[in-house]
Amino acid sequence: MLSPGFAVRERKIGDQELVILKAAENTNEAFITIDQDHRVLFFNKAAERIFGYPREKVIGQDLSVIMAPTCSRDHRRAVERYVQTRIPVRIGHDTELTATRKNGETFPANISFSVSEIGERIYFTGIVRDLTETKALQERVLQSERLAALGKVVAEISHEIKNPLIAIGGFARQLLKEAEDEKVRRKLSIILNEAQRLENLLNDLRDFYSTKKLKIESMDINDLLNEIYLLFKDDCGKRNIEFSFQKDRDRVLVNGDRGKLKQVFVNIVKNAMEALEGGGSISIDSRVEAGKVEISISDNGCGIPKDQQEKVFSPFFSTKEDGSGLGLSISKRIIEDHKGSSFKLESKENKGTRFTVTVPTSGT
Ligand SMILES: Nc1ncnc2c1ncn2[C@@H]1O[C@H](COP(=O)(O)OP(=O)(O)OP(=O)(O)O)[C@@H](O)[C@H]1O
Ligand SMILES: [Mg+2]
Repeated sequence: MLSPGFAVRERKIGDQELVILKAAENTNEAFITIDQDHRVLFFNKAAERIFGYPREKVIGQDLSVIMAPTCSRDHRRAVERYVQTRIPVRIGHDTELTATRKNGETFPANISFSVSEIGERIYFTGIVRDLTETKALQERVLQSERLAALGKVVAEISHEIKNPLIAIGGFARQLLKEAEDEKVRRKLSIILNEAQRLENLLNDLRDFYSTKKLKIESMDINDLLNEIYLLFKDDCGKRNIEFSFQKDRDRVLVNGDRGKLKQVFVNIVKNAMEALEGGGSISIDSRVEAGKVEISISDNGCGIPKDQQEKVFSPFFSTKEDGSGLGLSISKRIIEDHKGSSFKLESKENKGTRFTVTVPTSGT
């Protein structure tokens, strides 16, 4: 019995050949074999997955069925040239190029070619490796190297700024205690607030550029959400905001960095409160489904216009007078650093916003 990826089925083959055939069928790289007439003879499982074509639609057909017309013309010419001259141009080399899937999506690929002559006939095999993940990984490494370099500079600068800032704030606080003149008091409180704001900004910058690894531990995420609820409940009450927390289980264990996850939820709830100037409602919902816990934090505030929904995750994007614009970009990074977790935003202008954080559970 021959592999399903193969076009010829009549001839019996030995065990050794079968082993090689199965290896080619089951490997992670796409194996596509054509004959000298450009007809596809072999199209393995990975080829189906990578290019998105079922083999029934490809085997026995001209290779052009899976290629863009210009690409296919060049390919056919190269095959003809080899058949006439036997001079390999691409054969034996790796080439990186952009390939196209059936659905039109393009992807970076590495291709190498090999040729086999059997009797009078020549067969060409293209081995295609999908580099999407490799490239994404390289980009992530580059990005974290860039961040590490910037982080060092930021840490040094903020260290230099922080001490004088603490002194300015400290003296302003001291003078405020002694001052009696209302005008002087007002000016001193401005100095104090601004010094505090700059200190917060320095902390945010430090977090943003921090490349410290997460401290992963087994933790009850509903316990953390309850802590967040208690932290903001009174403040919400004062601002005429109805604040609620619903959960479908008592305990939900996840593997996470409690401190960092707390920072994420604090950022989201703070944003929600800031979006509800005249009052409104905020609700936290925790739901377990299919091995994941989905935590949504919804508000019925001003919402985020469609054209800003991507930008809110960019560092330094803020529509607030005194916002650093780092809250959501830090939060998104923290969630992405938690394996298998995701962050989603849904928002309608003048209706409200919902952030959903999904984290794999490790037990309940
Ligand atoms: N719940 C929300 N409702 C409406 N707009 C929001 C909401 N959450 C975020 N935004 C928008 O996204 C922007 C970026 O949010 P982000 O938390 O990153 O920064 P910020 O709140 O402006 O400043 P800070 O760094 O001090 O948190 C906000 O300025 C605001 O325009
Ligand atoms: Mg914020």
